Amino acid sequence: MNSYDAGSSIKSRLNTRFIGKQIYYYPKLATTMDTARDLVKKGAVEGTVVIAGTQTAGKGRIGRTWLSPEGGLAMSIILKPKLENLPQLVMIASLAVVRAIKQVTGVEAGIKWPNDIMINGKKVCGILIENEVKEGRVNFADIGIGINVNFSPRDFPEIADIATSLSHEASTEISNTELVAELLDHLERLYIEANNGEPVYREWLKNMETLGQRIKVDTGKTVEQGWAETVAENGNLIVRREDGSLIEINAGDVTVIKD
Ligand code: BTN
Repeated sequence: MNSYDAGSSIKSRLNTRFIGKQIYYYPKLATTMDTARDLVKKGAVEGTVVIAGTQTAGKGRIGRTWLSPEGGLAMSIILKPKLENLPQLVMIASLAVVRAIKQVTGVEAGIKWPNDIMINGKKVCGILIENEVKEGRVNFADIGIGINVNFSPRDFPEIADIATSLSHEASTEISNTELVAELLDHLERLYIEANNGEPVYREWLKNMETLGQRIKVDTGKTVEQGWAETVAENGNLIVRREDGSLIEINAGDVTVIKD
């Protein structure tokens, strides 16, 4: 598919007011995050979307790399939220992904704190948000979404044991175009609702599969172990340590401990 066809077939399925009115499609990019950042500098409007067929330097959270082979979805969406709505973006993005996956494939996905999307205990999607805030104003917040759609993670030793894909879980090929369109529709709806003061927290928490699990959280500074008690409205994870004390964690990497 050429760049024009990819963008216009997504646009023809969209029911959005502003997200996806501008879509930049590239067969191959280093990372959609850097391209989105460049587009912001050139004056890209809110809702501009960057999609890559493959990425050669896909970025993950905490300095990791993100594998982006053909058949996957690699996309960044440029938003310009109010400062007070910035913390909700992670919840909005992960909920939009869960809803779109259910709608397009029929498969139930869940959220592993803070924002990994999982199916049957394996990761199917990662979300990365990069933003720039100056003098109390959000210049941009780019939401990067990577979904394993139509490829077999088993063909990639580095993720074979921890990842799954939509085509594997649904046992059929999934339309990338339909998935992107649904995802952008849900994202915009949730974003507008959040801007109007309707918090997404409750629905997000309902889809949080980490709760109640015995976990280990690597915060980069410490490793905490205990039970995932709940997640606060600000997105912080509350862990009950083995001695009964509670600790609130702002960022980290969760591993579920299986007995
Ligand atoms: C993670 O789970 O570590 C986050 C992964 C985010 C991957 C997406 S793919 C589209 C966008 N471009 C990137 O380079 N990264 C994000």
